[in-house]
Amino acid sequence: MSKTINMKTFINIVIAIVASVSMVSCFNNNKPNYQYFPNMYAPVGYEAYGDYEIFPNQQEAMTPPEHTVPRGFTPYEYENSTAGLVLAKAELMNPYPVTEENLTVGNQLFTIYCAVCHGIKGDGKGILVTREKFLGIPSYADPGRVIVMGGIYHVETYGLNAMGSYASQTNEKERWQIAMHVMDLKAALKGEPGILETSKAGATADSTEVGMTPAGANKASELEPK
Ligand code: HEC
Repeated sequence: MSKTINMKTFINIVIAIVASVSMVSCFNNNKPNYQYFPNMYAPVGYEAYGDYEIFPNQQEAMTPPEHTVPRGFTPYEYENSTAGLVLAKAELMNPYPVTEENLTVGNQLFTIYCAVCHGIKGDGKGILVTREKFLGIPSYADPGRVIVMGGIYHVETYGLNAMGSYASQTNEKERWQIAMHVMDLKAALKGEPGILETSKAGATADSTEVGMTPAGANKASELEPK
């Protein structure tokens, strides 16, 4: 083994040093470097908010067509008016079974959203009323009001005069669960059995007091979930 480096090896080493120095010196920190497998960095598909000429508004994400219904959302057919409320009271029926579980959830949600005004018992004496911050809250046992499931759902969805809508805080099922609890509160205020018992006995809590008109009453009993 010779201890001296021969000329050929020396030239190779010099070439390697010059090459690496020149490559490093050409590197520009302000520009992206060469990408190895560029698809790992840049998506092949269009980006939602990317800028592309082929789309109508130069953007891949477009507004959905008219009448699009989001997944899991059920359109509500009754209009936000007195007539809509009367119609909902007459024919809109609770599609969910009255169960202990649904009533428990309804109770919790009622305490969160409604009790400040309507009171834990539904007697219209919530904390805002006792502190005289809010007036004109009816008791659910008010004989002048027809408090039925369909009406409660309608009022939760749209609100009613001074009462706001709860459609953004609650989903469809939750509004029905609250409605079940409200029917329970009303029964308790009137000293009647709760809706769990009445629904077990065959009649739903609604059937006794629907009847805005005879036609409405008939329609409601036909729609009743079995
Ligand atoms: C800010 C106070 C307030 C809150 C909170 C509130 N309400 Fe009301 N609610 C009212 C007022 C006021 C009325 C009377 C509206 C009217 O008849 O002009 C009313 C009326 C009602 C009625 C009677 C509707 C009818 O057919 O006559 C029901 C049922 C009802 N509310 C349910 C609820 C439920 C369920 C919640 C919770 C999701 C709730 N309210 C939360 C103030 C409130």
